[in-house]
Amino acid sequence: HTTLDSFPENFLWGSASAAYQIEGGWDQDAKGPSVWDSFTKIPGKTFKGTNGDVAVDHYNHFKLDVALMGEMGLKAYRFSIAWSRIYPEGRGEINEQGIAFYNNLINELIKHNITPIITVYHWDLPEALQKEYGGWESRNIIEDFNNYCMTLYERFGDRVKDWITLNEQNIFISHGYLEGSHPPGVQDKKRMYQANHIANLANAKAIKSFKSYVSDGKIGPSFAYGPAYPYSSHPESVLAAENAEEFVNHWWMDIYCFGKYPEAAWRYLEERGLAPEIKEGDMELLAEGKPDFMGINYYQTGAYEKNADGVLKGAKENHDGKKGNFTESGVKGLYKRKRNTYVDTTNWDWEIDPMGLRIALRRITSRYGLPVLITENGLGAFDELEKGDSINDDYRIAYIESHLRQCREAITDGVELLGYCTWSFTDLLSWLNGYQKRYGFIYINRDEDSEKDLRRIKKKSFYWYKSVIENNGENL
Ligand code: BG6
Repeated sequence: HTTLDSFPENFLWGSASAAYQIEGGWDQDAKGPSVWDSFTKIPGKTFKGTNGDVAVDHYNHFKLDVALMGEMGLKAYRFSIAWSRIYPEGRGEINEQGIAFYNNLINELIKHNITPIITVYHWDLPEALQKEYGGWESRNIIEDFNNYCMTLYERFGDRVKDWITLNEQNIFISHGYLEGSHPPGVQDKKRMYQANHIANLANAKAIKSFKSYVSDGKIGPSFAYGPAYPYSSHPESVLAAENAEEFVNHWWMDIYCFGKYPEAAWRYLEERGLAPEIKEGDMELLAEGKPDFMGINYYQTGAYEKNADGVLKGAKENHDGKKGNFTESGVKGLYKRKRNTYVDTTNWDWEIDPMGLRIALRRITSRYGLPVLITENGLGAFDELEKGDSINDDYRIAYIESHLRQCREAITDGVELLGYCTWSFTDLLSWLNGYQKRYGFIYINRDEDSEKDLRRIKKKSFYWYKSVIENNGENL
């Protein structure tokens, strides 16, 4: 475009986090254990054996953290609630101390004119439910999850109007039940599709309940959307990308928005005995639980090629920040993901593709016709704490700036964009990659070996984002 539309006046300039990655206080005030509390303790699962027992101790520093958000002028803050703080056993009696923590956090945000955005589930399933009935593999979870959500709506819905149901269902399900790199560490395709179907039902039910509790609110999922590109213009490559888009994206987004599984993928799975079991009433529920917007976490796109020779395995992730370990992944006969040589990569081999974000926003707009909230986007990088407590993270500024420019292009294209949350406000625990992979505007003085003093230090990007917000993005 030669001239660009402005960001809307009430645009949510935000930042995001997740309970397990920042809070710490893992057993404080009667919190129950989550599956991540135990998974991270299994030797060899995470980089240098790191866990979130203390994390960046936001639980005991939340006032300071929110004051920093206020100083920055942040308009919105997306955080997740730890289910096992509210229900230590996943259900049963409410732990009022857990409610109190989030009430205090919400009130503190509002005091600083920051719109709270709640994620009800960011992967930290109460361990009791995993042990009792296998978590997402049992239909019992639909009721328990709904009950937990209704408690949140009831207690916080008076002040919180923007809600996210499941964070990256596609990731926690595929990593938990196919790759086995997340809890519960299962590697079984059939079980994966089944658990995913149950998560779909839980998501739809929680959305349906929402309307009667927070009638003036908005709710949607946060989907990890990586648009699929054809590796070349060879028709086989284009077909591979179509297949990938259907299997890695529409498989989830179509369910959310249309209440239906995409046809070609369904048939492929059915032929192989992998399709989930649909019970009476399932499809009706899925059709009723439609979101008000599509939340997306955008990090990268994927380039796909035909997969006649059959790469079957998932990609091995690089957890040590040493570039160059990209492995092809895919589904035999359908597609395999190749390294896209047109774009640069991060130290953890994630492709950096700002235009891919515009493409993502356009695709959602034309397929689903829903407004979009970018619930995560950001750069994980090594930061260097220099003399005088300064961190010159120009690479992070460049990353966010280039993505925001594409957002503005997309708005000019006609995309209804509600807001943009960076990942993340403070540095935090990167699930499997320890504390070295930093995402924040605020540096936290700790590493894998020591909690040090957990000092909060503003990075250069803090001041930069502050000025973007002040100018409502006009200076981009
Ligand atoms: C998203 C998650 O997948 O990406 C976040 O919602 C996560 O919780 C973020 O931290 C970055 O991933 P990673 O592996 O770099 O921490």
